[in-house]
Amino acid sequence: MINLEKPSPPSEDRRWKIIDRTMRSYGYAPHSLIQTLHTVQETFGFLDEEAMRYVAEALRVPLSQVYGVATFYHFFTLKPPGEHTCTVCTGTACYIKGAEDLLRAVKQVTGADPGETSADGKVSVVTARCIGSCGLAPIVLFDGEMSGKITPKALEEKLNEWTHIAEEAVGE
Ligand code: FES
Repeated sequence: MINLEKPSPPSEDRRWKIIDRTMRSYGYAPHSLIQTLHTVQETFGFLDEEAMRYVAEALRVPLSQVYGVATFYHFFTLKPPGEHTCTVCTGTACYIKGAEDLLRAVKQVTGADPGETSADGKVSVVTARCIGSCGLAPIVLFDGEMSGKITPKALEEKLNEWTHIAEEAVGE
């Protein structure tokens, strides 16, 4: 007998609700795999085995297929992220409002391009196509927390906070 019950998320982390919302909007159809993995990537910064197993189970697709998709497309990363994740929205509205300037600022502070992690392991840089808050463009998520209408300067300040913590620890 086929078990049609939806599996439970791997943890209590509220971000799984976002993943569930995406899958639900597609009726948990197997063809929503890529879109769902996108959501995982955008929300968590990378795809780990736990997430891939959950998605495979919920969409009822073989785990091997999930791995296949996750490793085929360059925009998915299976590496653990840095201590923090900075997600810059590069959807149309955010792009028009200066997402490129934001990415330049991120690169300047962290040395990392999208999909990379700063050399000190502090910050992973991720981009998202559109997180559905275009009215507040440009958008950046700091560890999943949204900052709207953000300027490159404010972004740099936030990133400096993260990286300075590292420097202070080294200087102690
Ligand atoms: S384009 Fe950035 S939130 Fe829609």
